[in-house]
Amino acid sequence: MMDKANSLSKLSISLHWIIAILIIGLCAVGLYMTRAEAWALYPVHKSLGVLVLVAAILRVIWRIKNGWPAAVAEYSRLEQITAKIIKWVLITGTIALPLSGMLFSGASGHGFGIFGLVLVPAQHMPGNPAEVLAYSEFWAKAGASLHQASAYLLIAAILLHLAGACKHHFIDRDATLRRMLGK
Ligand code: HEM
Repeated sequence: MMDKANSLSKLSISLHWIIAILIIGLCAVGLYMTRAEAWALYPVHKSLGVLVLVAAILRVIWRIKNGWPAAVAEYSRLEQITAKIIKWVLITGTIALPLSGMLFSGASGHGFGIFGLVLVPAQHMPGNPAEVLAYSEFWAKAGASLHQASAYLLIAAILLHLAGACKHHFIDRDATLRRMLGK
């Protein structure tokens, strides 16, 4: 059940890949929908984003109980520090992104939910239901800025994380990636 240096638990592997696929998909959808004004994608983005938060919280609880898996080999001090920083940006990003998205969507009056289950209702302008009315302009702006900034930081961390995984696999030829694939 627990992670070991040469093998990771099924729970660690499942949570890693479920969150990774959802987050990469949500980044792509988020970047596309804002630029293409693809309004139909917003509820899908929000619903999956809230579900990622649930999975990310489970993952944090699992990390607290289980600790971080040990490195498969000895690495330079610089590599250890870089890996640690990226790990923390990734784990805090998976929590900060959905929270800031919820703050933005909730406070701006657009509301959000999970595939039809309303969590925060939209607020419409009295007499003009086509327009939304913010619950708080301040928190809507703060949420939007935080969501955008943390999205770009997370995308940078994901790219570095991918580069690290490739380095371990193709240059160091160690078991880091194989361990995460359950091999
Ligand atoms: C891990 C989960 C999430 C990821 C990775 C993610 C990622 C992104 C990205 C990359 C963008 C485009 C940012 C830009 O270029 O302006 C975006 C936009 C947006 N996201 Fe998310 N998001 C997540 C969760 C959520 C949640 C939970 C909500 C709301 C409940 C949400 C609501 C929005 C909205 C409304 C926008 C459009 C912002 C605008 O129009 O300026 N996101 N998201």
